[in-house]
Amino acid sequence: MLRLRVRRRNNLRSYLQKVKTCLPRGVVTDAAEAARRDRSGEKDERRTLDTLLLQRHEQAERSVLIGCQSRTNEKKFLKFLSKHGDIKKHFFYETYGTYAVVEFSSREGVSSLLDSAAIPSVSHEATVPFKSRLLSLRNLSVVDSLSQKPGLQCQPQTSVPINKLIQKLSREESVDRQITSLTDVHQLTEENSRLRFLVCSLLRDVAAAYFPECSIKPFGSSVNGFGKLGCDLDMFLDLDGIAGWNLKMPKSGLFLEYQMKRANSERAVTQSILSVIGECVDQFGPGCVGVQKILNARCPLVRFAHQPSGFQCDLTANNRVAMKSTELLYLYGELDPRVRRLVFTVRCWARAHSITSTIPGAWITNFSLTVMVLFFLQKRSPPIIPTLDHLQELAGPADRCVIDGNNCTFVSDFGKIELQSNTETLEKLLSDFFEFYAVFPFNTASISIRKGKEQNKPEVAPLHIQNPFETSLNVSKNVNATQLDRFVALCQESAWLFQQSKSVSPRGSDTPAPWGLATLLLPSQVTGVKSPKRRRREPASERIKGLLESLKSKNQGKS
Ligand code: CTP
Ligand code: MG
Repeated sequence: MLRLRVRRRNNLRSYLQKVKTCLPRGVVTDAAEAARRDRSGEKDERRTLDTLLLQRHEQAERSVLIGCQSRTNEKKFLKFLSKHGDIKKHFFYETYGTYAVVEFSSREGVSSLLDSAAIPSVSHEATVPFKSRLLSLRNLSVVDSLSQKPGLQCQPQTSVPINKLIQKLSREESVDRQITSLTDVHQLTEENSRLRFLVCSLLRDVAAAYFPECSIKPFGSSVNGFGKLGCDLDMFLDLDGIAGWNLKMPKSGLFLEYQMKRANSERAVTQSILSVIGECVDQFGPGCVGVQKILNARCPLVRFAHQPSGFQCDLTANNRVAMKSTELLYLYGELDPRVRRLVFTVRCWARAHSITSTIPGAWITNFSLTVMVLFFLQKRSPPIIPTLDHLQELAGPADRCVIDGNNCTFVSDFGKIELQSNTETLEKLLSDFFEFYAVFPFNTASISIRKGKEQNKPEVAPLHIQNPFETSLNVSKNVNATQLDRFVALCQESAWLFQQSKSVSPRGSDTPAPWGLATLLLPSQVTGVKSPKRRRREPASERIKGLLESLKSKNQGKS
């Protein structure tokens, strides 16, 4: 993109002016970078998700995962591996043991390395001789067992615990800095992202035993820009790329087609593919444990833990709509730096108060929360991000995409998207987010990022969030009234708390008292309301009741 629009430029400049006083020297924000690009007339290098996926995929295919020991001598280790080819990048990390991700410059390096690897001989057990790019280092001479040197430097793969985060945030100088800092701590690192693609690539090797042309792609928070260190790895087994799908039948003469088994429905095909691949992952997949086949779910999946990476994995097939919603979320996150920061903050706040959970249940999911934040940003005046309908209007012929009758078309060229001049700070947005949902008419209204406006609720579910592409579906169908009540009560409390604590900027202490965003992550008084019998909202104290009244009258004043 050669030009960011003038309005966008003004938007970024005034936004930056507001936040720059809070930034330590040398820190370049996404917005600062965009404004710099803008001034210099430089091309916008933001990559589409497709480009990013391709690059990462290719990188992963040239990489191997090697279990080693924490006292491995890094120099000797690299020298040993370099015999097989140039090493482009490597890093170490710890999960259930120490591992190295090693990226070779070419695939030949990987082939040569694999050719030199032995099948383990174990005395009491037998091994399944399935060869993969998950290896173990067994050469003792590269281990500094007696060395006094510290072990390998490992890249962290999990985010900091909540109490440490609260301390860190309390030391920041402004709420906007707190929000930026929280995002920096939580978002996926370069290394973690590489590891996710490598796990997909390793799994593809298993699936390729049946479908040599298949690919396995990550989707969801691993790639949509909203992933937190430690989030699950959602994968999609893609068979659309195999040759022969769209081969045109000649008008005359001979031609061949494959003889293939037939099934009653696409769903039945997906189930049988996942059943076999799931079995294969269970029986032969190195490092894959606890495999469960959940084939009767709306979206059939195979769930397992990949021990060497520490990822909880969900493998689906025929899930192209979810790929599109991943692409959409990624695009929204790239449009304005405030989008990701606000989503990270709200997700972290929700996790800290058990509004969300990694265990499936009646909780609001991270995906639902993300859509709620996007909707809120569309409702600002002027809006910070456009509606999905608008993104669809901007789409070109190449963007056209219909999946199972669902129109999933939206523009992919960032350059075509005009942003309006909204200069609100993150502090203001976070505060208004809580106020917005503290009084949102959940009883009657559905949240739709397609329209950017409340819609009439088509069903009686407590929380209705329209699926952006499968518009007849409710993303938050699982949420019950108790969980929604907890969310609303927490929004009320947080709106009040934030007003009380956001201006207290501590100075001169190593362990300052929590303030601003940090206060919102402390245990709450109202979310302890856990009894399933308590269906009605009961504010924890008079002050929250008062807040609710003031928010209601404020809201009435607006309308
Ligand atoms: N998805 C969907 N409809 C749902 C749930 C999920 O379309 N009701 C899609 C979304 O694209 C979502 C992806 O499936 O991003 C993965 O779902 P999930 O793992 O629940 O959410 P994530 O966004 O990956 O968030 P988390 O970090 O909690 O895993
Ligand atoms: Mg996920």
